[in-house]
Amino acid sequence: MLLFWLILGYFAGSIPFSYIVPKMKGVDVSRIGSGNVGGTNVLRSMGPVIGISCMLLDFFKAFIPTLIASLIYEDASWIPHLTLLAAVIGHDFSIWLKFRGGKGVASTVGGFFALNPLLGIIFFIIWFSLNYMFKYVSLASLAGLLAGGLFGFFFSFQTGFIFTLLFFLSLWKHRNNVKKIIAGEETITDIIKILSE
Ligand code: G3P
Repeated sequence: MLLFWLILGYFAGSIPFSYIVPKMKGVDVSRIGSGNVGGTNVLRSMGPVIGISCMLLDFFKAFIPTLIASLIYEDASWIPHLTLLAAVIGHDFSIWLKFRGGKGVASTVGGFFALNPLLGIIFFIIWFSLNYMFKYVSLASLAGLLAGGLFGFFFSFQTGFIFTLLFFLSLWKHRNNVKKIIAGEETITDIIKILSE
């Protein structure tokens, strides 16, 4: 049964919406901006409507299978947590993109809202605050994910463990962003201004 959820999660997560939607408009997002196949890069390159659409699609592809698994099994069961892990791995290492992909932020946030909406609220408080202060989406995303992982331990071991693991996975996917932040070369993105346009 676990195998079924892992496969479902992986294939749902591997649908590369942030690649497909810009491609429908003739744009290869892996060749512009940061080159990341993720909502932030789409938002920066193609504006808020397409960017937010991609973010929401990447959110829901993890949210839906994780929520279904959490409704069938206990909230603290490993199955919904591992379904989410599989979905984020699918997003980060998509079978349709030669095992390349995004950095897993929108999909992990989908998991917060499916498993414990309070973690999603904590994520967004930190995410908006740090974006407002520093204008580095990568920094805000990593801080929000780390907080979600640490606060997750207050709800269950499974929640804390899986979200901490997802933070480290995303940290690895953000390794070039981290180097650029340290070097003062990270792209400045006024995401709050773009989102409110
Ligand atoms: O969600 C990804 C974000 O944290 C960073 O994206 O395109 O600035 O590398 P990007």
